[in-house]
Amino acid sequence: MRQQIAAANWKMNLTYQQGEQLLDVLLKEAIALKDHQRAVFAVPFPYLIMATQKLDGKKGYAVSAQNCSDKKSGAYTGEVAAEMLKSINIPYCVLGHSERREYFGEDNLTLAQKVLLCLENNITPIFCCGEPLHIREANAQQEFVATQLKESLFGLADDAIRKIVIAYEPIWAIGTGRTASAAQAQEMHKHIREFLTAKYGASTANEIPILYGGSVKGANASELFGCSDVDGGLVGGASLNASEFASIIRALK
Ligand code: PGA
Repeated sequence: MRQQIAAANWKMNLTYQQGEQLLDVLLKEAIALKDHQRAVFAVPFPYLIMATQKLDGKKGYAVSAQNCSDKKSGAYTGEVAAEMLKSINIPYCVLGHSERREYFGEDNLTLAQKVLLCLENNITPIFCCGEPLHIREANAQQEFVATQLKESLFGLADDAIRKIVIAYEPIWAIGTGRTASAAQAQEMHKHIREFLTAKYGASTANEIPILYGGSVKGANASELFGCSDVDGGLVGGASLNASEFASIIRALK
């Protein structure tokens, strides 16, 4: 079965001590993950080692960075390179979150560089895509997301694209409490899979997990994850509460 992933995106929230406590409380729930299931925690850079140590030896649990530089190394004050993440054994990195695109000017071509650097360093990119409200209102979301995927990912060879996780996050649903309906999520995820199929063939496309993000919570996770092309979620607000995120993990197929 395709991997099913519940990914927490803490963004710029929680102190170190609050982060430690959240992980401790969550791990006390002792949710046993099946072979194809993952619970991933995208934490701020200074918490990566702490989170790695806490999750060490817990089957299916892993840590993610929230971003990395599009440069390999050098005089880029304040940046963090994929190679640095690799040197502390970080297996995942969120790339192209809409907040990075909107507030930090990241475009599809910059993201293509970041994807390459992550893959070179054996880090799985959790690549975010998704349309703003005005694009959805113009019913142009499919073309919009297709362009994001094409420009950032479609330079990859078949064996490289298989290492990517995609997160579809309609921007109008992020942090707004306005979730896409399960039907809207499934429609776009199916479209993304068809788009991947057209480029890479069905067997590759069927292996790539496509997560949904945007106001996922315990109360709607089962319905969303129940859709055939929705392989889990990328969760912001609801991941800041241990019992809420635990119920999201439990909703994985
Ligand atoms: P949200 O954020 O769950 O708070 O809507 C999701 C995300 O931005 O990844």
